[in-house]
Amino acid sequence: MQDKILIIDFGSQYTQLIARRVREIGVYAEIHPFNIKKEKLLEYNPKGIILSGSPFSVYQEGAPKLSFDVFNLKIPILGVCYGLQYTTVNLGGSVQNITEHREYGRAEIKILKNNKLLDDAANNSTVWMSHGDSVSNLPKGFELIAKSETCPVAAVQNEAMNIYGVQFHPEVHHSQYGTQLLKNFVVNICGCKLNWTSSSFIKESIEKIRKQVGEDKVICALSGGVDSTVLAVLLHKAIGKQLVCFHVDSGLMRADESKTIIDLFKKSFDISINLINGQEVFLNELKGVTDPEKKRKIIGRLFIELFEKEASKFTDCKWLAQGTLYPDVIESVSVKGPSQTIKSHHNVGGLPEKMNLKILEPFRELFKDEVRKIGVELGVPEWFVQRHPFPGPGLAIRIIGDITKEKISTLQKADSIFIEELHNADLYNSVWQAFTVLLPVKTVGVMGDERTYENTCVIRSVNSIDGMTADWSHIPYDVLNKVSNRIINEVRGINRVVYDITSKPPGTIEWE
Ligand code: XMP
Repeated sequence: MQDKILIIDFGSQYTQLIARRVREIGVYAEIHPFNIKKEKLLEYNPKGIILSGSPFSVYQEGAPKLSFDVFNLKIPILGVCYGLQYTTVNLGGSVQNITEHREYGRAEIKILKNNKLLDDAANNSTVWMSHGDSVSNLPKGFELIAKSETCPVAAVQNEAMNIYGVQFHPEVHHSQYGTQLLKNFVVNICGCKLNWTSSSFIKESIEKIRKQVGEDKVICALSGGVDSTVLAVLLHKAIGKQLVCFHVDSGLMRADESKTIIDLFKKSFDISINLINGQEVFLNELKGVTDPEKKRKIIGRLFIELFEKEASKFTDCKWLAQGTLYPDVIESVSVKGPSQTIKSHHNVGGLPEKMNLKILEPFRELFKDEVRKIGVELGVPEWFVQRHPFPGPGLAIRIIGDITKEKISTLQKADSIFIEELHNADLYNSVWQAFTVLLPVKTVGVMGDERTYENTCVIRSVNSIDGMTADWSHIPYDVLNKVSNRIINEVRGINRVVYDITSKPPGTIEWE
């Protein structure tokens, strides 16, 4: 059995980062909302618990609270920010509001005493603070182990109870010894072994999947994205021929996308995919539709209808496998508790109930970069796992206005040129997502001696960690110049190229 850390989420924007860091260190960690029941926590059997930060103040009305006393479970605890304050007030100490001295950003900590938590962290090292409340009285049995100039209680410990707390955020990169601190906690204090790796995840998942599905068949819909691809490869390794794969070709994919997917599966893994050709149906149903939400709804419905029609022929399938990731499941696990918002295009939502299928989601706790590593470990080529995300509704939301076959083909050509030039300039892997958008805006141009009156193409490239926020990429002018020249010269129907320099927020990554 793998040693596990449980992270209790009180709603901080950084909670996901804690899980990431702990797993990067080599220990498995899962996030659970603060409304977790005591029985569930005990069943999970963690070797340590981390209490996260929160947008709330501990004394504030509606502040998140656990329904049981977590401090007498005899499991080591680390409280981070609100987690420290929660620990403090629950064990008899107090916290004060420091409205005048709210502390956001870098601070230097002074270590006051040798201790297990800050072992190997240099004195006067930088940490990342983000708080409006501060501990004013330590609970009995606790001692101060670090302070900063503006924060007299930066880190505390109660060695006898194995409870620790920090006011700063060790999970944030700006905290110089943050990873070391988390490692000290999970290894030296909780006694976890460093054995969480891609291959240990694969091994455990395979056993779990085999046990779960037995002799049943499992359906998997391949979008062509990284998550569903890695999922199918993992399932194939676990249950071989019991896996039935489908791919719907909506005609709204990048140029040659469906062929690339089918070939990859056949050549690299000897997995056959049932191809559902939906090109005409999609085009017909989208005819004349310009409203972005209508487009999305039609596409979502058609994916389900086509998939259901084909999948229902496989009556012995009892499971539907989905490449759902942690960020798809929980929107920062808000303090209202877990919100189960799953992107519908992503995972053929609604289908399981209709077809009476049970759900298999081996990546539910993972982040995209972890799935990429698992993919590489499973032999999915590096170029494939590093591909940019692609939205379920595809090019339909990158063609502004109505969709026609010609427009799809025009956009596919422009898109291929942009992506090719990013590869040529060795920039593809350094941006999160890059694509082109076709605008129904005609402008006047001149090519040779001819006056032109054609459409406008937008180049969009963004840098991001998770797609939630994004900056526009600062692609060098000479690369932009080449892309623009090539698109105008090689793609009929486009005579003007513009570069989108909008960040998210306030813009979104996609245009619709
Ligand atoms: P936005 O445009 O909301 O996109 O900033 C954030 C990320 O999500 C992708 N995206 C989608 N993915 N189905 C998906 O599977 C969708 O309907 C969808 N809409 C946007 C987008 O490409 C970006 O990576």
